[in-house]
Amino acid sequence: MAKKLHPHALVIPCPYQGHINPTIHLALKLASKGFIITFINTQFIHSQITKAHSPSSGLENIFSKACESGLDIRYLTISDGFPLEFDRNMNSLPFLEGLINGFSNYVDKLVGELVKEDCVDPINCLIADTFFVWPSIIAKTYEIVHVSFFTEPALVFALYYHLDLLEENGHSGSHENRKDIVDYIPGVKSIKSSDLPSLYQNSVVHQLIYKAFQDVRKADIIIANTVQELEPETITSIQEKHKFYAIGPIVSANFTELTISSSLWSEHDCTQWLDAKPRGSVLYVSFGSVALVNKEDILELAHGLMLSEVNFIWVLRFNVLGQDEDDILPVGYKEKVKDRGLIVPWCNQTRVISHSAVGGFLSHCGWNSVVESIWCGVPLICSPLVTDQLANRKLVVYDWKVGINLRDEESITREEVRSKIKYLMNEETSNNLRKNVAQVKETFHNTLATNGSSNVNFNKFVEELKIKISLA
Ligand code: UDX
Repeated sequence: MAKKLHPHALVIPCPYQGHINPTIHLALKLASKGFIITFINTQFIHSQITKAHSPSSGLENIFSKACESGLDIRYLTISDGFPLEFDRNMNSLPFLEGLINGFSNYVDKLVGELVKEDCVDPINCLIADTFFVWPSIIAKTYEIVHVSFFTEPALVFALYYHLDLLEENGHSGSHENRKDIVDYIPGVKSIKSSDLPSLYQNSVVHQLIYKAFQDVRKADIIIANTVQELEPETITSIQEKHKFYAIGPIVSANFTELTISSSLWSEHDCTQWLDAKPRGSVLYVSFGSVALVNKEDILELAHGLMLSEVNFIWVLRFNVLGQDEDDILPVGYKEKVKDRGLIVPWCNQTRVISHSAVGGFLSHCGWNSVVESIWCGVPLICSPLVTDQLANRKLVVYDWKVGINLRDEESITREEVRSKIKYLMNEETSNNLRKNVAQVKETFHNTLATNGSSNVNFNKFVEELKIKISLA
């Protein structure tokens, strides 16, 4: 099939907040290199974004402001196979099954339309999230270039890529109680079994990861939200088998003021509250956008925060328990902490953690949270819950030493929460952590400068992609 040569990429994130955000930044970066971008969100995600913003914001195309500035980013929505009112959070496994088995039909149909020679600027490249199980099949069907975008670190890529080795060695199930070391994964010198991503054999998540990491082997190019200097051995080992470019940290060009509305929930404005607090005195607490937290942990955390006596902003997502429960905090809690604790259902996280009043982040270690925290030079207390978050914690606590671990045991206690918070928020005790995070922050910022590795890698990736498009 003859194609026009103007590079035109169809870009499609997994329909979750933590995947949509970095994919939007990637789309903007590529558009600024002259690519035409067609960005796909599911209809459900689009309706969430629209609901989260004021009706006057005119969100037909979430990229409208970027388009006004001259970028060619088109925006389309497709069905994910479920009705809009289907509760994807409460039915997370059936929803994932749908993403594995049915979603590709909708993407296939759309790609089929957009590659036609009679359409203006047909697409010639598919940039899809690595967690999809079907991109290589669609790219092959329509003879377009396939770029796989991994939104997480190389360490997690390597572990998922070698799931077969983990299985052979009995490390692919639950390993919460195991203390042994895994030292047989290429590019990963050693990792404690308790830091491996949590996968449950035969579960839908396991199936998804297994299939996705078979599919990624067929991608023309893989790009990842990581930095060459920070994961050198792991990246080199992946590069022995694949065209793999570390192009992170993928953050918005003007970090705090996103020109793109991508939040799935409306954001509580914390600025005024933060403005009134002393520099570095506020701990930000958030468990990201999907993972569920059990009630005991929420209560221990609540008590620990109270006992610590520090200022805090706590994002307590609606439905964080996975069930409807109006007030999950101890009776009278909000009143007791009201002068120093702000509890909100959702906020603009990048705006909060880049505020000078914030001095620490108690996080579930979702990769975007880790990246955003380091970008702002904010050290972390790590309380990972599921999947990649456990391996991300290894990078934060043991490799880069920019955070400390909460959850030394299986469950957390209020006393542990109190003492870890005290340790992190005290400038003397956390002095080394703060020095380390300042250094890694510098690496992050330098890598995006003209001669920085991620900038150079991004340019190489773009050149290679253009060549592949012209040859396809
Ligand atoms: C999950 C995985 O844990 C993560 O590693 C993977 O890369 C994506 O899926 P999630 O729970 O969404 O991630 O956490 P995280 O990766 O930290 O992403 C959350 C995003 O939502 C961040 O970009 C953060 O800035 C944003 N956020 C979070 C807000 O804007 N407001 C909030 O109140 C909380």
